[in-house]
Amino acid sequence: MEWDQATCHLNGQWLPLAEARVSVLDRGFIFGDGVYEVVPVDTVDGVRAPFRAAEHCARFARSMAAVRIDNPHDDAQWLALLSQLIERHPWPRQSVYLQVTRGVAKRDHAFPPGVSPTVFAVSSPWPVIASEQLEHGVAVVTHADERWLHCDIKSVSLLGNVLMRQFAVEHDAAEAIFLRDGRLTEGSSANVFVVRAGRLSAPAKDHLILPGITYDAVFDIARAHGLACDVLPIGEADLRGADEIWLSSSGREILPVTRVDGNAVANGRVGPLFRQMHVWFQEAKRSDALRWRERMQQFPRAA
Ligand code: PDD
Repeated sequence: MEWDQATCHLNGQWLPLAEARVSVLDRGFIFGDGVYEVVPVDTVDGVRAPFRAAEHCARFARSMAAVRIDNPHDDAQWLALLSQLIERHPWPRQSVYLQVTRGVAKRDHAFPPGVSPTVFAVSSPWPVIASEQLEHGVAVVTHADERWLHCDIKSVSLLGNVLMRQFAVEHDAAEAIFLRDGRLTEGSSANVFVVRAGRLSAPAKDHLILPGITYDAVFDIARAHGLACDVLPIGEADLRGADEIWLSSSGREILPVTRVDGNAVANGRVGPLFRQMHVWFQEAKRSDALRWRERMQQFPRAA
């Protein structure tokens, strides 16, 4: 099955993706007035399981609350929808996209009264992470962080991120990473970690970055294995002098960065801590998949 043959969920109905339609007055279309989630699904020990599904639901609810859209579903309903999307498609690796906008109304910036949110959800195949990227790392370019001051909300208003990803593409880089007032924030669609003298660090989850689900997973895994971790401001010099730099996101898991603005990171090779973390991360996916299977067995109707 090709991605465009997917069945999607739109406002409580299942229909072919090609037939799904929303009004041109949807505030997602007019204002970018909506929030979203991307949940990665992989087959682990024969089970197709979303990674950290509960955490994605919690962040989704938080984003809706932050922009004052009434959450149309509780967590159990979102998890059931997620599970149905996975089951309806044959792909062993899927990327599930969930989106809620404020709904359809005559154009006026202020919130329209009495409008129901638009709910859209679809799954698409999630390509395997290229072994070339894991073996040799990827290049990134830096740029001033020109986005707004609520980057912790997973908003569909992504123009700042879109322009920066294009900047990366035009500079033969896998990602653009941002500096705000001389400090590292994040990438256009990934969080960033830095390793220095055996310690793993990342900026705090404040309003300047998205609180990544993969970010939390990486820190949880690192701490569980006794790695020294720091959440602290990372200056430009710390970034450029790092021993290792990693990207983390639901779409790319963790990726080693071996070039920043054309300069090698340390010796230009993928670092030992990344290789270790990559193994630990795959183990963590296995335990998470087991938890998902148990949950599905407990609540079979959700599946
Ligand atoms: N992006 N920062 C930004 C700006 C992001 O857009 C993302 C994810 C992340 C990583 O968050 P997580 O680990 O929860 O995926 C950080 C998704 C994948 C996207 O927009 O497609």
